[in-house]
Amino acid sequence: MAKSKEKQYIYIVQSSKETTKCKIGKTNSLERRLKEYNNMTGKSKDNLYQYLMTCEVKDMAQVENDLKYQFITLREEKSKEIYFFNTHWFNEYVKFIKAHTLFVKETFIKTEDKKQIVKIVKRTKPSLEERGILQNVLMKKAQKAENDEFYTIYEDVVKELSMYDKKIWKDKTVFCNCDDAVGDNEKHTSAFPLYFLHNFQELGLEKLICTHYEGKVDLFNEGSRAYIFTKKGFREGIKEYPKNYSGSFDHPLSLKILKEEADIVCTNPPFSRSHDYWDILIKSGKKYIIVSNEANIVTTYFIKYFQNKKIWAGHNEIHYFLTPKKELVRAPAFWFTNIILKNRPRYKQLKIIPLKDIPDKYKKYDDNNTLLVDNNYIPGDYKKVFAVSTRPIINGLLEKGFKIVNDKTFHPYLNGKMGFARVLVQKE
Ligand SMILES: C[S@@+](CC[C@H](N)C(=O)[O-])C[C@H]1O[C@@H](n2cnc3c(N)ncnc32)[C@H](O)[C@@H]1O
Repeated sequence: MAKSKEKQYIYIVQSSKETTKCKIGKTNSLERRLKEYNNMTGKSKDNLYQYLMTCEVKDMAQVENDLKYQFITLREEKSKEIYFFNTHWFNEYVKFIKAHTLFVKETFIKTEDKKQIVKIVKRTKPSLEERGILQNVLMKKAQKAENDEFYTIYEDVVKELSMYDKKIWKDKTVFCNCDDAVGDNEKHTSAFPLYFLHNFQELGLEKLICTHYEGKVDLFNEGSRAYIFTKKGFREGIKEYPKNYSGSFDHPLSLKILKEEADIVCTNPPFSRSHDYWDILIKSGKKYIIVSNEANIVTTYFIKYFQNKKIWAGHNEIHYFLTPKKELVRAPAFWFTNIILKNRPRYKQLKIIPLKDIPDKYKKYDDNNTLLVDNNYIPGDYKKVFAVSTRPIINGLLEKGFKIVNDKTFHPYLNGKMGFARVLVQKE
């Protein structure tokens, strides 16, 4: 029988011992391949490989290659076959395979509960009380800098940046100033420069400037010597290692680039230096698209910036980042910008209706008689001040005729008990 007649399969397989990873590969015989995996691991019952998904495809090598490219940041560096696993990413892998033009049919999918195994840093949606009461604790924890050492996942950068009008980049200099290393290969390059290098011509950029920080944790294996990477026009990028340069965003050289060269700043700054970073950025008057903590919206330090229209929400939330060990960690972040969005799909989530029509369970009055509304309900006919959580702000409430009226976090008290942090708004 000619080889070309053999069936071709793509599979996702997982060992019962390593549930934070899975392997994605190709084979002509699923049965034989599974045996090979299990022979490798011996007969131990707790290290059994099982398929999570198998499917027939027309050209397994091509599909496998495309998968590798699509999920480049989710693959282990040493063994290219190993991918990070959790329910979200498993669904993304399956979605990608099934949407591929060479996909023929699914032959197996494990439907029973797949445990979501990720290191939980903080729940995306903390309980109401946690959000209010723990705000200070969370901010203090952040000062310890452990949250600084997260990579932004490439796909998240693509998802957000591709939603802006392409014209904003034309002939502009983009500055990535928080450890946005550019290594010899994609694995040693931060997702921000990677996006701009991949799309440099397409976006019509004039220049890209990225700095590598000399900090203790070397996220991108780029060594402890700080540098400035610059790519201009069609020329190859160059790295310079100025004497006594730390790569810090507040180093005089970085500040000079910010002031004299940058048009748009784009990065994920260190959480522990968040206030310093934002102060410098806002004062610079430059355009920016930045990843930051979603809770900024209800944090006294930031509210003034939202109130004065120096910041507004970008398009997307981010749930996961990567640690230096390339493990997924969960942290509630959002994109923030001062670039006018042509279209905000999230407006649809706002439910601006008369107060009387808001279901009772989503409206209440605190001990001082301030109205609190939830679940994106907004009383369109209410003239007085009322309190909302981060979500309506993220969904564009401040662009729909409402303004923030107090620059401090608002903590409602309900029967003497402090509720979660909010912000006070009013119809303009
Ligand atoms: C959240 S990580 C993001 C890294 C990279 N920008 C990305 O998005 O994948 C923040 C980075 O900023 C670096 N950093 C810490 N202090 C810094 C400073 N003063 N100036 C510039 N970068 C700093 C940290 O070491 C860390 O690599």
